[in-house]
Amino acid sequence: MTSPASTPLTQDQLKALVGQAALQYVLPGEIVGVGTGSTVNHFIDALASMKGQIKGAVSSSVASTARLQALGIAVFDANAVERLAVYIDGADEIDGRGYMVKGGGAALTREKIVAALAERFVCIADASKQVAVLGGFPLPVEVIPMAAQQIARRFAALGGQARLRLKDGQPLVTDNGQHILDVHGLQITEPLAFESEVNQWPGVVTVGVFAHQKASVCLLGTAEGVQTLQF
Ligand code: A5P
Repeated sequence: MTSPASTPLTQDQLKALVGQAALQYVLPGEIVGVGTGSTVNHFIDALASMKGQIKGAVSSSVASTARLQALGIAVFDANAVERLAVYIDGADEIDGRGYMVKGGGAALTREKIVAALAERFVCIADASKQVAVLGGFPLPVEVIPMAAQQIARRFAALGGQARLRLKDGQPLVTDNGQHILDVHGLQITEPLAFESEVNQWPGVVTVGVFAHQKASVCLLGTAEGVQTLQF
């Protein structure tokens, strides 16, 4: 993609750039793990050009499955696959160590499940997602509804304010039938320990910190082009 020097690429154009660049990590003959979100949508659209070369995909959401299938890409159940060479997904934040916050699209649980099958996590993101410390983006946490308030109190004790995510005035229901808390005001300086701690709380389905499953590589869309960060 080219752009006149005086016209900076839009955020969506940067997302398209990294979505296209991610094709280099897709191995012919393999099944690829596919994330969720507007950046991944660009990747899925680009992947259609390789559909004759791959076996198919394992998807992390109902929305990505629908987009893959509409383009004629076979979607495999995660239970039918023992390993994936690569999982490609966006992020809401990524720090200098490859730790991420994810779940802005409410797909974090299936994203973590598919990422856990993969040897490499390739994060695709525009430069606005790069941060020094995780937590500026409200942390998504998928919860069992009856535990939401006690989990909110635990976050309050850590200095965070948890808000139930709504859609059309009602609690958003995830692909897994659960709710999402978005936790504001956190500074996650120790992502590995934080993820382990929150994982222990009864009623937490998935915390949106991806530290134990951090990125191996990040393709970052910047004004100067795609930067490849290795972690
Ligand atoms: C989906 O639940 C998220 O984890 C996404 O990967 C994240 O929100 C990035 O989304 P965009 O690519 O739409 O910015």
